[in-house]
Amino acid sequence: MTGQHNDQGRAQEQAQTQESTLAPVADEGAELSPLHHVDSTPETGQDGDVFFARTKSFTRRQRAIPQNLERTMAQHAERYVVPVRRSVGWTTVAADFRIDPAELFGREAPLTIEIGPGTGEQVVAAAKRWPERNFLAFEVYQPGIAKLVSRAVAEGVTNVRVIEADAQQALPIVLPDASVDEIWTFFPDPWRKARHRKRRLVSDDFALEVSRLLVDGGVWRVATDWDDYAWQMRDVIEACPLLENPHAGERPDPNDPEGDRGGFAPRFEGRIVTHFETRGHDAGRVAHDVVGVRLPRGAEHAPTVSE
Ligand SMILES: C[S@@+](CC[C@H](N)C(=O)[O-])C[C@H]1O[C@@H](n2cnc3c(N)ncnc32)[C@H](O)[C@@H]1O
Repeated sequence: MTGQHNDQGRAQEQAQTQESTLAPVADEGAELSPLHHVDSTPETGQDGDVFFARTKSFTRRQRAIPQNLERTMAQHAERYVVPVRRSVGWTTVAADFRIDPAELFGREAPLTIEIGPGTGEQVVAAAKRWPERNFLAFEVYQPGIAKLVSRAVAEGVTNVRVIEADAQQALPIVLPDASVDEIWTFFPDPWRKARHRKRRLVSDDFALEVSRLLVDGGVWRVATDWDDYAWQMRDVIEACPLLENPHAGERPDPNDPEGDRGGFAPRFEGRIVTHFETRGHDAGRVAHDVVGVRLPRGAEHAPTVSE
């Protein structure tokens, strides 16, 4: 690693630790080996190699793929991994990069997006269960993507694609309004420390972006096994003027500081028990599901909960 890269790496770590949205950082892909990356070299930022960091819901991760998955990726990534034109770094998309779902899947079909599928247990199981739907996953963890591809190959599904991208950065760019039927955010990173909360994916701003993408009546399904994040998810959905919680007031949580407010959905029967959920369960945690339904355009209401 060069001294310059050391400096760049330090600048990025510092920016991430401080959660600054303004600190200049370097291209996150610059010092990482592009194992089986289907993309070409990332673009540099408009201002050279320096760009302005944003608060991310993830930290920089190892991109090396386990050896046993390398051959799978070499053979099958082309079929399942969406080639991306990048902005700066491995997880961004260029400002003019668009996805046409019909072209991507070779057919028109209802589209479900999963954000943060991890190793793809849920999205591949769903693709198998609902062959008449298309499934597009956004994931920043390349070993997870490799495992997802391996699962897709093993199950023989052809209706799932994965894109290596930060959903927060990419979603506002890649897909048009009202183009998605369901969006799933299951067990997002909990970011438990108070000073890290702003990294949580499920937020007021993200709810607006999800609402932009959903068709009228489309559904955002979220789940977590961290109580305070579950309450936050409920709050975010009920505060969003473009979404309705069809389970408002239901299933009050005895631990909820807001008493019997409730607002939790029954477990989505299409949500399988992933290894991740099992680990939380073994540690004594219980999953909560929350649902937001996209209100018809033109019929949006004032928030049911004032912040
Ligand atoms: C805690 S894991 C849960 C994985 C999976 N949903 C499950 O239930 O087993 C969260 C996943 O979200 C991914 N992730 C976090 N922020 C993301 C983002 N902005 N865009 C895409 N994926 C993200 C992480 O890399 C990780 O794989």
